[in-house]
Amino acid sequence: MQTPMRDYLSLLLETCGEDGGEVASYIPELAHADPDRLAIAVATLDGEVYTAGDADVEFTIQSISKPFTYALAIADQGLDTVLERIDVEPSGDAFNEISLERETGRPRNPMINAGAIAAHALVRGEHADERVDRIRALYGRLAGRELSIAEDVFESELSAADRNMALAYMLRTVGTLDADPADVVRGYTRQCSVSVTVSDLARMGSVLAAGGRAPDGEQIIDPAINRQVLSVMTTCGMYDSAGDWLTSVGIPAKSGVAGGLMGVLPGQVGIAVFSPRLDRHGNSTRGVRIFERMNHDMGLHLMTSTDSARSVSRRVEHDGVAVHEIAGDLHFMEAERVVRGFAEEPEGETPVVVDLDRVQRANDIAKRILLEGVRRLHLDGHDVRLVDPWEVLGSAETGTGELVRGEQAHGGYVPASFPSVAEAVGA
Ligand code: DON
Repeated sequence: MQTPMRDYLSLLLETCGEDGGEVASYIPELAHADPDRLAIAVATLDGEVYTAGDADVEFTIQSISKPFTYALAIADQGLDTVLERIDVEPSGDAFNEISLERETGRPRNPMINAGAIAAHALVRGEHADERVDRIRALYGRLAGRELSIAEDVFESELSAADRNMALAYMLRTVGTLDADPADVVRGYTRQCSVSVTVSDLARMGSVLAAGGRAPDGEQIIDPAINRQVLSVMTTCGMYDSAGDWLTSVGIPAKSGVAGGLMGVLPGQVGIAVFSPRLDRHGNSTRGVRIFERMNHDMGLHLMTSTDSARSVSRRVEHDGVAVHEIAGDLHFMEAERVVRGFAEEPEGETPVVVDLDRVQRANDIAKRILLEGVRRLHLDGHDVRLVDPWEVLGSAETGTGELVRGEQAHGGYVPASFPSVAEAVGA
């Protein structure tokens, strides 16, 4: 059987309708792009990439580079230092607006050019070329292959970079830029000229969707930095159409003037579309339409509520032992549901078995809530027995980081551990 994904993607491209808008021409080389190119890629968190259309065609990453460079700037300088120089407020302006916050001199956010130029300059490097090398290396790790710079687009954009140059000199006058403005614009322009395919962008997006972790398990972006980047992308990634985008499509996204559009659905997928004609906001016209259609077909909107907490746990009794059977992945909501079940347990010495056999994963907050629930059962007088064959809560013997943190937060109480419910009940 062939998975229906590729057929669906092909159908999406076939039915996305007439194109509108114009290819970007303020960068002379981009005006030569074939306006009819059309491609899509969807990358899952475990590394599967589905494509349709002109998926091997390379184009320049342009503004889709901005979230990744912002991540590197934070990794290099720390969030506080970056926030002192670049705010995180939607500007409601065009991507190349010449404006800074009146009171602080900061660019409004790192997705517009002013903020992206400032973020580029915050990347560590002895000189301008080293900054670019480190940025390109990061993009390559995220895409899973080495990426090169399209020199023709770079030269072309640099020859017409008066506006970005103006922004950089303005940043320098208010103390937001320490480095030489011309060097920074050169480096930023090289960053924008990194050549990618839709598959590369979808993969890069899938790493953001996975909290900064690549399919091979490598943590490329720190989870807290990843969250910061996605938050800013959500509110500012689509510039002056960010509100319209968030309400109608609901997928954090970043567009580029070469026609790329990358969407990131946290915990689910990275998606990228390529179609060079742009709308008046500088976003790919067909790209926007395809994302709208995908949201309609597959319910990908970030604000679509899930009901995952509904059947997460049930209580059964075996020979006078209460067994709380828990299933599925546990986050805050599911963990709350589970400990609500614990709270309904009558006080007394009845043994309580917490059966995590059907739980594959629990995030940090879910673990803490669960351990706190277990501790309270114990304080109520119950003999609590844990069945945790997948070590969802961490291994008590080896004292993994999670459980140690849990132990400290939960008064050091560690319930007795059993390999199976039968042994826990019979004990
Ligand atoms: O700085 C610029 O103007 C370009 N290198 C990038 C702008 C861009 O991609 C805007 N996004 N849609």
